[in-house]
Amino acid sequence: MLRDVRQGLTTMPKQLSPKYFYDERGSELFEEITQLPEYYLTRAERLLLEKKIPEIVASVRPCSLVELGAGSATKTRIILDAMRESGCAECYVPIDVSKDFLEATAQQMQADYSSVRITPVVSDITEPFALPPVASPTLVVFLGSTIGNFPRAEAVRLLSHIARAMGPSDRFLLGADLVKDPAIINRAYNDSRGVTAAFNLNVLARLNRELGADFPLKDFEHRAFYSSEHRRIEMHLVARKAHTIVIPEIGEVSFKEGETIRTELSYKYDRATLEDILQASGLSMEKWMPADDGAFALALARAED
Ligand code: AVJ
Repeated sequence: MLRDVRQGLTTMPKQLSPKYFYDERGSELFEEITQLPEYYLTRAERLLLEKKIPEIVASVRPCSLVELGAGSATKTRIILDAMRESGCAECYVPIDVSKDFLEATAQQMQADYSSVRITPVVSDITEPFALPPVASPTLVVFLGSTIGNFPRAEAVRLLSHIARAMGPSDRFLLGADLVKDPAIINRAYNDSRGVTAAFNLNVLARLNRELGADFPLKDFEHRAFYSSEHRRIEMHLVARKAHTIVIPEIGEVSFKEGETIRTELSYKYDRATLEDILQASGLSMEKWMPADDGAFALALARAED
């Protein structure tokens, strides 16, 4: 984290990886975001999963579920329930960077799914990671449009790791937010209650607490905007005035008035773009499942041999 923060704040333009949003407070704030009226992504994906998971489970017949970036695993229940009904739910492997949150989630899930072997893996999904041995076929899921945090080359690197770990009977299920009216997208990242602003600013509170930095939170403000050209949301923290902060192990970091730290990219997709990314990663799309209103989609893929 120190290395990333040094790299991100001493080069121009300044940036921080969105993975640092998810300390305990950040994970809580994200859960709150998923319940906001403006944040359509989570609801759209849950509806789609409820509708599509029976046919997905019927065709894949998975015995194990591996979930990248598990978070609070609410959508996982839909999948595990369907697996249990179809007669096989042996292992669940939630993978997440947020250790405390992951362990709490794993414990809660174990209480509710006592016959499923739950093996949480604390890992940064952008690094190649080893999977514990699990019963096949495995359904690997990457939901919530977290893929959107990664520009194409990084997305391909991450998905290639997954493709290499998959056997011929395994399948990969991806949830992705789709290109749509920019006003709808902009509202989802600029909610009226300011939860997204608090989520964005929390990364500075984390640097203050964990690295002993002295960011004055009141001197930064949340900014999020959709770029139609890049088909992505950009989130920034904007310095309200010129000032200098200190991070003991890094040194002084100066901000001009209006200068920003870019804290997140969130790409929006269409079918062709996703097929291309999957293809480049050694995966091929078997099933394209868009929501009726075209807001969000699920894609099911297999690894190419
Ligand atoms: C978890 C990365 C999918 O990009 O929509 C929500 C994170 N950021 N509001 C997204 C987020 C601001 C979210 N992802």
